[in-house]
Amino acid sequence: MTTEKRVAVITGSNKGLGFEIAKKLAKLDNIQAIISSRDEAKGLEAREKLAQQGLDVDYLPLDITDDKSVENFASMLRKQYGRVDILVNNAGVNPAREAEESSVLTAKLDTVISTFAVNTVGPLRMCQALIPIMKDHNYGRIVNVSTEMASLNSIANDFYPIAPSYRLSKIGLNGLACLLAKELKGTNILINNYSPGWMKTDIGGSNAPLTAEEGAETAIYLATLPDGGPQGGFFAEIRKFGGPFALPW
Ligand SMILES: NC(=O)c1ccc[n+]([C@@H]2O[C@H](COP(=O)([O-])OP(=O)(O)OC[C@H]3O[C@@H](n4cnc5c(N)ncnc54)[C@H](OP(=O)(O)O)[C@@H]3O)[C@@H](O)[C@H]2O)c1
Repeated sequence: MTTEKRVAVITGSNKGLGFEIAKKLAKLDNIQAIISSRDEAKGLEAREKLAQQGLDVDYLPLDITDDKSVENFASMLRKQYGRVDILVNNAGVNPAREAEESSVLTAKLDTVISTFAVNTVGPLRMCQALIPIMKDHNYGRIVNVSTEMASLNSIANDFYPIAPSYRLSKIGLNGLACLLAKELKGTNILINNYSPGWMKTDIGGSNAPLTAEEGAETAIYLATLPDGGPQGGFFAEIRKFGGPFALPW
C-alpha cells in the first residue's frame, strides 16, 4: 500500500519528549505520525491517549538496539505505507544518576557501552534502515535529539554534570549528523540535530524548567524544513532564541 501523506516516525514516543513530538506532528495536515516503543502495551496506550484527543496516529513496535526489530519496522513501513519521510531519533537513555557517572575515571564501561547502544548506534541503525526508503522519493527530514552537553566547544566551561556515558554518546550522535550530512549533500534528505533544553521527563526529572511540549517545538521546525533548508546543523531550542539558532558543535 502507498499513502500520499508524509509518514513520520518518532522513536521512543510512548512518553516524554517523543510523545509530545508525535502529538505535534499528528496535528499537522498531510502527516501520518507513527508512535513507536519497545514495549508494545505502552505504545498502544500512548496511541489511545492521542486517539482520545481526536488524533489519528498509528503504532509500530520498535527497539532501536535490536537489528531484527529495526528490520521488521522498516519492512512494515514499506508494506503498510510505501514510504517514510520524517525520522525523529528521539529514544535515549541517561544513566547520569549512577554515582560512577560523576567522573570519567569511575564510569562503568558496561554503562558506557549500553548508553552508546541506545543513543548513538540506535540512531545509526535507524538511518541505515530508513534512508534507503527516503531515497525512493528523494525526500527526508531526519531530526536527532541531542543536547547542549555534547557541544565540544563548551564542555570545558559548562556547568553540567560530567555524565561521561551520556555526553560521549551524544557527541557520537552529533558526529553521525555531520557525517551523514556530508554523504547526503545534493539530495533532498536533510539531517539536523538539536538540543531540546532541560525538560520535566523521566530523564530530566521534576526540577527541570521546561515541559516536553516546549522541548518539542524545535523538532517540529526541523521535521518540516522546506526544500533547501539547513543540512547538518546543531540547533538550540527555538523558544530560547525566538527562532532557529545554531549551536557550536
Ligand atoms: N529531558 C531532558 O531534559 C533532555 C535534555 C536534552 C536531551 N534529552 C533527550 O531527549 C530524548 C527523549 O528523552 P526524554 O527526556 O523524553 O526521556 P524519557 O521520558 O525517559 O523518554 C525516553 C524514551 O526513549 C525510549 N527508549 C529507551 N531505550 C529504547 C530502545 N532501546 N528502543 C526504543 N526506545 C527506547 C524510552 O522507552 P521506555 O519507556 O520503554 O523506557 C522512552 O520512550 C532523549 O534522547 C534524551 O537524551 C532530554
